[in-house]
Amino acid sequence: MADTQIKLYYKNVLAESIGPEHGISKEQLDELAKQTSPLIPKIKAEITSDKVRYGLLPGNTEIAKSVKKLVKHFKPKCENLVVLGIGGSALGNIALQSALNPYMFNLDNNQRKGPRLFVFDNVDPAQFGSFLDFVSPRLGKTVFNVISKSGQTAETASQFMIVQKLLEAKFGKARLKDHVVATTDPLKGTLRKIATDAGLQTLEVPEGVGGRFSVLSAVGLFSAAMCGINIDQLLAGARDMQSRVTNPDFFKNPAAVNAAVQYHYYNHGKRISVMMPYSYALYNFADWYRQLWAESLGKKFSLAGSEVNVGPTPVKALGATDQHSQVQLYREGPNDKVFTFLEVQNHGKKIKIPAPPSSAPELAYLAKKDMGELLNAEKQATEYALMVNQRPCLTVLFPKLDAYAVGQFILLFEATTSFAGALFGIDTYDQPAVELGKQATFALMGKDGVYDGRPYADFAKDILAKTEIDPGFVI
Ligand code: PA5
Repeated sequence: MADTQIKLYYKNVLAESIGPEHGISKEQLDELAKQTSPLIPKIKAEITSDKVRYGLLPGNTEIAKSVKKLVKHFKPKCENLVVLGIGGSALGNIALQSALNPYMFNLDNNQRKGPRLFVFDNVDPAQFGSFLDFVSPRLGKTVFNVISKSGQTAETASQFMIVQKLLEAKFGKARLKDHVVATTDPLKGTLRKIATDAGLQTLEVPEGVGGRFSVLSAVGLFSAAMCGINIDQLLAGARDMQSRVTNPDFFKNPAAVNAAVQYHYYNHGKRISVMMPYSYALYNFADWYRQLWAESLGKKFSLAGSEVNVGPTPVKALGATDQHSQVQLYREGPNDKVFTFLEVQNHGKKIKIPAPPSSAPELAYLAKKDMGELLNAEKQATEYALMVNQRPCLTVLFPKLDAYAVGQFILLFEATTSFAGALFGIDTYDQPAVELGKQATFALMGKDGVYDGRPYADFAKDILAKTEIDPGFVI
């Protein structure tokens, strides 16, 4: 295999590998190819359409240019970069950093090519309060990247209001712009208004690109570039994969095959999709995938309007850690899961295991072995153990972990999601069920106005009637 391309390995979902009861037969695979092939030109058009557009990001040189301009401006005076965002405005940033910067980069100046990075995607006062204690004496060399397409998101808005007050109290209103980059809608929305009013530097959440598909826009690229990640390589990797996921030949199209396998298993009682990286660096990409898969595919209605309530449940696990926590269930529990391993062939670092003490000759088999060899052997061993129990296993093979490979991975799973959505016959790009909780929060927090024809105050009364603790049931 070309040593810069990631690959999808699918033999171990087939009947020849795990047996006819749970494996996909030749006839079933041909049927899936027949069903998925006509979708390939449709997805190719869809991901570059006005509604979806994430397929336009890898080829958009203007975004990288605007990001680099701001990096040049902010990086020299920045020791701490703080991303404020949630969901699609945070998970990609977290995943990119942990995949492409060394594990200890925040603590060890010698391992960093940029500022420390902190991403806050919650409103937990204990967590955020502790961070404020850390950052308050360091504000002079801290930059905040607030990311919100709407600016209305309660979590991000409240974090930002706290930070804005802190910065203005220390430096004055006029200098807010030295410490804040706002990534938001190009024209409209609350954060755009705030940014214009305060004269902040801004980057754009591109029109038509949903949060969970936005990591290759300024949403993910600014913090990546600030922290020394090669964003040109990231985008080049995504372009490489884009040509592969639009290949009209089903059997050469890794996104089409990946989606078809997942779709097949969903319809054959395996409704849980486990992503299990054998690389700590890729663990947060399993989290990114969880949002992508869950928000995109969990839908009540089909495109034709009938009630379908579909959606595989994405689960993340970590190899080898979760061998000692989950694999008992994965092997002997219900056969209701399809596994996707992420395997890195060259971990970049070699750590030799020394000879054991003479009191423990039974550990001699580990001596002189490389730690990465052990990790990859554990992946193979777990895959084998699962296959013995007829559990289907896919693997994404990474020759090594660099920006080019990660760019490919992002595009592969975004396109897989598009294919899966098309196979399920649902709208992949909306998330109507997220709204009710957001609106209920507004009501409980005393927002003025109306939701769904009712004042928020009345809505709040209904919510409290249903959710306030009833002492009769507390034990
Ligand atoms: O994927 C999505 O669309 C969501 O996760 C959003 O990114 C998240 O709700 C944040 O929205 P906003 O960017 O408007 O603050």
